[in-house]
Amino acid sequence: MDKIEAAKEKFESLMEEQLKRIERLKSEADFLDFKSLEQIVIGVVGGDGIGPAITAQAAGIIADLLKDDISSGKVSVKNIEGLTIERRAAEGKAIPDDVLEELKECHVILKGPTTTPQAGSPWPNVESANVAMRKELDLFANVRPVRVPELGIDWTFYRENTEGAYAVGSKGFDVDEDLALDFTVATTQGTRRIIKAAFEFAKASGKTRVTAVTKANVIKTTDGKFLRIAREIAKGYPGITLDEWYIDIMTAKLIDAKRRTQFQVLVLPNLYGDILTDEAAEFQGGVGTAGSANIGKRYAMFEAIHGSAPRMVEEGRAKYADPSSIIRAAAMLLNHIGYAEESDKLTKALDICAKEKAVAMTGREDGASSDEFSKYLLKTIARL
Ligand code: IPM
Ligand code: MG
Repeated sequence: MDKIEAAKEKFESLMEEQLKRIERLKSEADFLDFKSLEQIVIGVVGGDGIGPAITAQAAGIIADLLKDDISSGKVSVKNIEGLTIERRAAEGKAIPDDVLEELKECHVILKGPTTTPQAGSPWPNVESANVAMRKELDLFANVRPVRVPELGIDWTFYRENTEGAYAVGSKGFDVDEDLALDFTVATTQGTRRIIKAAFEFAKASGKTRVTAVTKANVIKTTDGKFLRIAREIAKGYPGITLDEWYIDIMTAKLIDAKRRTQFQVLVLPNLYGDILTDEAAEFQGGVGTAGSANIGKRYAMFEAIHGSAPRMVEEGRAKYADPSSIIRAAAMLLNHIGYAEESDKLTKALDICAKEKAVAMTGREDGASSDEFSKYLLKTIARL
């Protein structure tokens, strides 16, 4: 077949898939009301590398903080096995079917980091499990808070999580040996809901500014749409100012000590959100210290923003891996399902432990183990 015809066919199927997705988005239900549930099911997925070790620490802390409601049956914590790179590679699937089914039986999920293969790595180039889970469970808002009080930094990122360059990131194609194409996707429904979520958060938490970050001067169609919808939605929030930045200058302004304290809530397409949140987390002590909430209307998943650190496992250092990031994610999970007080305590204790460092982790034998760190954290909570 002519190569252009072959490429057209592939492109056609991408468009069909996205148009179908839009139909689903049009009829999506509202956010789940956790108060109305008889039982809240928390799924715990260890992931790869250091994932199982640090996730077990975070799950242990949840079990401790919710022990009464777990014993009464109000909350159930369920371990989900099998989201490993070995199984994903063997099945050639980002999420094995049985694992996906189990995930869908939960209301919220705590997930350890999973290995993301890339072209040329020893693993088959299957889609990232994170990205697949965000899409399968329609977790459209990736909420990443970064706080450094002593620098006046208090940012909350609302990263769009199901569209942009990620929507069909594993479905680009080589038209021939010289021409490779990838695609980026923006839908009206998908863009509206993330921008609305950012404004709603701003309104609920007394913030006065929402910053939309795009590259609408160059990526005119999809980013242009994002910006246009941001302006439209901003009109419904008279007490909140929308300001507009391009991603390149935004990365620079985050290191401008005067300017950066003015940012409050930032809303941005998927890939820019991926990049900017790593930079932002660095001010707080690195990606190992930040948690990430992936929120959808029905499901929500909470994860560390760092990777699976396979080298730590190879060198026998998994038990020295810092569980702070996944524990921060656990704190966000608790808040999401209605345990605001427990969540607050856990966040405060994490802040205290990070500063006080009575039990310090180095990632190696000369520092504390993650188990020792968790005990220190629980003791800190007890003295709050
Ligand atoms: C993140 C990660 C993921 C992403 C990777 C692991 C696929 O970097 O959660 O930010 O790019 O979204
Ligand atoms: Mg990232």
